[in-house]
Amino acid sequence: MSETGSQPGLIRSSVRAMQGYVPGEQPDDPSIVKLNTNENPYPPSPKIAERLAAIDADTLTRYPDPVCRELRERLAELHGCTVDNVFVGNGSDEVLALCTRAFVENHEKVGFFDPTYSLYTVLAEIRDVGEHVVPLKADFSWPIDAACEALRADEACTLFFFTNPNAPTGRLCPRDEVRRFCEGFSGVVVVDEAYVDFADECCDQLALECENIIVARTFSKSYSLAGLRVGYAIAGAPLVEALYKIKDSYNVDGIAQQLALAAIEDVETMDRNAARVVATRKRLAARLGKLGFSVCPSQANFLFVEPPPHTTAQEMFEALRTHRILVRYFPGERTKRFLRITIGTDADIDRLLEVVTALCEEG
Ligand SMILES: Cc1ncc(COP(=O)(O)O)c(C=O)c1O
Repeated sequence: MSETGSQPGLIRSSVRAMQGYVPGEQPDDPSIVKLNTNENPYPPSPKIAERLAAIDADTLTRYPDPVCRELRERLAELHGCTVDNVFVGNGSDEVLALCTRAFVENHEKVGFFDPTYSLYTVLAEIRDVGEHVVPLKADFSWPIDAACEALRADEACTLFFFTNPNAPTGRLCPRDEVRRFCEGFSGVVVVDEAYVDFADECCDQLALECENIIVARTFSKSYSLAGLRVGYAIAGAPLVEALYKIKDSYNVDGIAQQLALAAIEDVETMDRNAARVVATRKRLAARLGKLGFSVCPSQANFLFVEPPPHTTAQEMFEALRTHRILVRYFPGERTKRFLRITIGTDADIDRLLEVVTALCEEG
């Protein structure tokens, strides 16, 4: 029995029973080719370093703005909405967690497709509420009509996480299909757009048109700021107000607010980095296809690929690891035949291709 499992009197039974979120490995060794946690391989805007150097440590004696007013004003300009439509969180993970607290009663359920971002099930476990899991089709596209029908028959499901582009598959659901899903669902839909800057279309305007949609965004991926911990939500004012009521008092630290502001003063750098990632993604998809991999169509900064028949995903994951290349392997039923490969620099991807080609030739 685990240590927490042996403390029944002290710890909630649901917390004792849960495993917790398992993040990707973060090795200290910089020589490892790290393609396992969907970070951006390119540095953030130079404005970040400039702003960081200009921060006066004495300002840290004061609490930060609890409602991130200035950052929300800039984000509202970016999305063509008002400050009342923007919530800023300590990473988009905080936005997702707050949604499970604001929109789900204790006897209700959280819904999501499978496979998807593994945090959602952890958030449901933390709340100790039920889950309504809708399997994706065999090609990982969305069964929109069947999902709406199943959810109509389950009134207890009041919050649904719709990841778009999806993780770990990278597929993008067309905006009109997302809209159709949201119109067919009576609860709140969080459209988790963590990877949308690498995609061809997005749903931010849907969140302004439909009262039950929250679009979640992050500075962690396209803005190259995973270490900063800033994410945000775009939604109708009543949903945003609900999130503001229940957040921690000072959920986004003052330095993070300053640096996120610097990042959106230079959207051009983000766009340029995203375009480089997309070009490398296309190159890698084509090369892996030629080597006999089956490649799920991706609009994100990673590829979800099934190795050719002479090897398994787990074997290839381990072989790459011995060559000091880290990718992600998810042993679940729907995911165990695949590897998720984050798009790195061109040099990272050349090294990956060199090793994968040799492994395929050996196989
Ligand atoms: C689908 C999805 N949503 C949200 C997040 C979390 O992003 P953040 O760093 O903003 O908490 C991730 C991180 O990997 C993700 O894959």
